[in-house]
Amino acid sequence: MALAVVAVVLALNLPAHLLGPPPVRGARNCLHASMVVPVAGAHGPESLAFDLSGEGPYTGVADGRVLKWEGDERGKECVRPFAPELEHVCGRPLGLHFDKKTGDLYIADAYFGLMAVGPDGGLATPVANEAEGGPFRFTNDLDIDKSEDLIYFTDSSTAFHRRQFMNAFLSGGKTGRLLKYNKSSKELKVLMQGLAFPNGVALSKDSLFLLVAESAAGRILRLWLEGPNAGKLDIFAELPSYPDSIRRNSGGELWVALDGKKGPFLRFLLSESRIGNFALGLPVSLQRLHLMLVGGKAEATAVKLGKEGEILEVAQDKRGRPCSSSAKLKRGMIKLWIGSVTRPLIGIYDLN
Ligand SMILES: *[C@@H]1O[C@H](CO)[C@@H](O)[C@H](O)[C@H]1NC(C)=O
Repeated sequence: MALAVVAVVLALNLPAHLLGPPPVRGARNCLHASMVVPVAGAHGPESLAFDLSGEGPYTGVADGRVLKWEGDERGKECVRPFAPELEHVCGRPLGLHFDKKTGDLYIADAYFGLMAVGPDGGLATPVANEAEGGPFRFTNDLDIDKSEDLIYFTDSSTAFHRRQFMNAFLSGGKTGRLLKYNKSSKELKVLMQGLAFPNGVALSKDSLFLLVAESAAGRILRLWLEGPNAGKLDIFAELPSYPDSIRRNSGGELWVALDGKKGPFLRFLLSESRIGNFALGLPVSLQRLHLMLVGGKAEATAVKLGKEGEILEVAQDKRGRPCSSSAKLKRGMIKLWIGSVTRPLIGIYDLN
């Protein structure tokens, strides 16, 4: 019966907004992009990072390049098209973080694993691409601790590549991992496994704990690293939607970008793995399925979480220009930069 409902709903080809999720309660429609930067000749600038001199943002795009935004000047290199079929050849850089001591840029590349490139740019070199016998399939995001020696990063799935993110999301297979890499000893450790699409990672300001967005579960987990709770795991926040990147601002607050929303239909698909797998088996393109689940027009949504995981602010751009993927604060609270994993845009928002 449940499966028949899924088949009928998808076969009806309803306009996406009819199936879409309800609005997030408490959302303040305050994100009016003061500027939208088209990322010419490139697709899906998900993660944004600023270098030690505050320049950037740098962003990883769909054809495997990391680009630096240099004001309104368009980089000459920004000419290659979006070609998902080449991702495994060209790479797909997602999470980015600068090592504050060396200025090296560390990259979580969905296909090539953890990589690094020096302050002068060039071709990134591999740092790690397998752990405990299993190669990374879908490296997603990273953070670097205050000693600049430990890198925490996520591998969203051991079953599916990034191109198949809908499968990774809906299949119910909890195969994602959280890993730790020690730069001095080059030691790699699996900290957690069996996660439902682990995505963004961020350390607390004091590095006492680590937050991991468990996207398909719609929540953020907290792993205590130091202090009396060291080694303990708890739920830091349950969110009204599926969290993507997490970024900490200088005040220790966290901005979480949300993708899609927990609409009734998507909740239903995720309620049991056989329902999700059934939907994946229907002759509906993954793109169409994705569009239906996020409610047609993608809205940019970012939530600010307090130190105990409470939602302090829900910021939304109803006009849905840049889709939410990565929230980054540049120089305190002045601007919120939002990237997009699916569109050629970065939005810059004035929050004050
Ligand atoms: C990382 O490895 C170095 C060298 O083996 C070691 O001294 C250091 O304690 C390690 N860091 C952590 C936090 O395990």
